[in-house]
Amino acid sequence: MVARAPGAETAGMTRTLTRTPVAIVGGGPAGLMLSHLLALAGIESVVVEIRTRREIEETHRAGILEQDSVRLLVDSGASDRVLTEGDEHEGIDLAFGGARHRIDFRALVGASCHLYPQTEVFKDLADLQLREGRDVRFGVSDVSVVDVESARPGVLFTDADGAEHELRCDFLVGADGSRSTCRRAVPEPERRQYFREYPFAWFGILCEAPASAPELIYNHSETGFALISQRTPTLQRMYFQCPPDADADEWSDARIWEELQSRLGANGHTLHQGPITSRAVLPFRSFVQEPMRHGRMVLAGDAAHTVPPTGAKGLNLALADVRVLAEELERAVRADDPALLDDYSTRALGRVWKAQHFSYWMTTMLHSLPDATPFDVRRQEGELASLVASTAGSTYLAEGYTGWPTG
Ligand code: DHB
Repeated sequence: MVARAPGAETAGMTRTLTRTPVAIVGGGPAGLMLSHLLALAGIESVVVEIRTRREIEETHRAGILEQDSVRLLVDSGASDRVLTEGDEHEGIDLAFGGARHRIDFRALVGASCHLYPQTEVFKDLADLQLREGRDVRFGVSDVSVVDVESARPGVLFTDADGAEHELRCDFLVGADGSRSTCRRAVPEPERRQYFREYPFAWFGILCEAPASAPELIYNHSETGFALISQRTPTLQRMYFQCPPDADADEWSDARIWEELQSRLGANGHTLHQGPITSRAVLPFRSFVQEPMRHGRMVLAGDAAHTVPPTGAKGLNLALADVRVLAEELERAVRADDPALLDDYSTRALGRVWKAQHFSYWMTTMLHSLPDATPFDVRRQEGELASLVASTAGSTYLAEGYTGWPTG
């Protein structure tokens, strides 16, 4: 429904007014999945996103989907490629103290996860929205949210062709990532923010080489953490702990391989090397903003919370958020009652804090602090040894990694 806004002349420009039940700021996997789930429930939405499709597709993100994330993608009709092109993983290796130890998810909790990169999830969702003729505007600019506390919040933006728009909605969703504009629209007295910084980051690479292992290796060593992951039979993803201010362009390929080989070599493993085709330093941060509702606005995914990447919880948490949000929004839209969305905030935050703890725990168990003493390193090895030797300990890891049931 598009109409000219009465009196919406601004600085000689005409602003086009659109009314929608739900406006979604952010067209990453969280925003697109929510729009899809709402459409399945018969609720229209409009999605606006500042990045172009291409920009999103070219940003490398994590690659592991929990069991219920896979189920959501398949059952909602968003992706069958996750099953045909993704790789099912039934365990991971923890490497420490000179050896590798497998955590067998299938045997411990009867679950698995899938290696299927976030960029592929995004492509599936963007293609679906296009096929279904849904309203998604990529490449917009000057996004601002207005009247968040009113009965009809709004989103102002300029589209990719330079035309100005005003979107008025009954409910506004901020799925606009870790630098969220929507999050900042909540007045300070109405929100609580929780932070943790870490004195390290990850150096991530893609390289053209055969896989160095059939499953992921989370590698502890005296000189720092490394993670060996995969993408395709000829393209591999690897990460290693580095200083937070590292400059990816300053590292030669030889230096990167030396660092990775020495960390894995400490536990008796050798990597297949090949040309490095992409490199970037990834920040490390834990963050939560509570509550996840303010008036008729709700936050979802990275807009409300960030986890450090160890354990790949970010995308999975975002998908779990929107699964709950679609249910709660459906009730709120039908009743035109924002108070119903308090259930969303409570239900989502329960999982968010479990994942915050899990990501923090995996991170601190496997990374070395800049001022670590030999005691600290041996103590971590003691923790890892007790984990792999204990069915209870290994089961705890397997449950968290494959994802707690979403119910
Ligand atoms: C990947 C990233 C992660 O943070 C992780 O814990 C596992 C895998 C990946 O990009 O493949």
